[in-house]
Amino acid sequence: MRVRKAVITAAGWGTRFLPATKSQPKEMLPLVDKPMIQYIVEEAVASGIELIVVVTSLWKGTLEDHFDRSRELESFLEEKGNLELREEVGRISQLADICYIRQKEQLGLGHAILAAKLMVGEEPFAVFLPDDIIVGAVPAMKQMLEVHGRYGGSLLAIRRVEREQIGRFGIIDPERVAEGVYRVRNLVEKPDPERAPSNLGVVGRYVLSPSIFPALEKTLPGKGGEIQLTDGLATLLATEEVFGYEFQGTWLDAGTPLSLLKASVSLALGRPDMEEEMRHFLKELLR
Ligand code: UTP
Repeated sequence: MRVRKAVITAAGWGTRFLPATKSQPKEMLPLVDKPMIQYIVEEAVASGIELIVVVTSLWKGTLEDHFDRSRELESFLEEKGNLELREEVGRISQLADICYIRQKEQLGLGHAILAAKLMVGEEPFAVFLPDDIIVGAVPAMKQMLEVHGRYGGSLLAIRRVEREQIGRFGIIDPERVAEGVYRVRNLVEKPDPERAPSNLGVVGRYVLSPSIFPALEKTLPGKGGEIQLTDGLATLLATEEVFGYEFQGTWLDAGTPLSLLKASVSLALGRPDMEEEMRHFLKELLR
């Protein structure tokens, strides 16, 4: 079954970015000159997704405004003769069909995905976590949808992680199926590296079967009183196949102030209009 819909979970408090996130959404923090969520919406659209459901919460209004049309701004830019920017601002408002649903209490990622249940319905769907940015020649979700089309079930984006990073990720117990594709036998959240079943960590892209909804409804609050997606996936594993796919592309973590800064610098180094000055700046700084 073709995957048409995507859920972007953007309802969290973003506590690691406080005070920056006291009154503005974490997902609107910029990497270079684009808010994180725009990278995600662009990836979804480039992957063929037709409808995006963004799960939001209180204080997240600017997120909706970002993808709305601002005729005033467009006219202002036109009057100033800045047609390139006017074009760009207009393009953002036409990127995708987006609907929004509120998660009224921040009870975890699994709970946020459950909020989208009625909008998704009985079909497989994509999930994006907006603080995982992936850049590369072929959008990561496009690659995943292709693999999902071949194997069905549910699919998790995975990448190899350094030993000392293992304790920060959900780690799969893999059974190799094909180049870069693994059947997931088990999933362990943030394991001790000594006991981890592999070094294949889950990052924020999923293609999920609609059976995840009843699985999440059965899931009791786990760590921190939150309904964890990992626990829902563990339930799902008992009845349906779950695969992991080692996507091609560069993963940029935008989930902490330091990692966001690093992600911004690496993106700036890949931009022809910024690369030279950025290199010069870094060299001077580190002299
Ligand atoms: P994080 O674990 O990064 O949480 O959630 P967070 O609130 O964004 O940030 P910290 O940990 O407090 O700094 C991963 C994704 O899941 C969403 C977040 O918005 C983020 O995009 N999320 C998390 C929800 O939508 N609802 C929740 O209840 C929890």
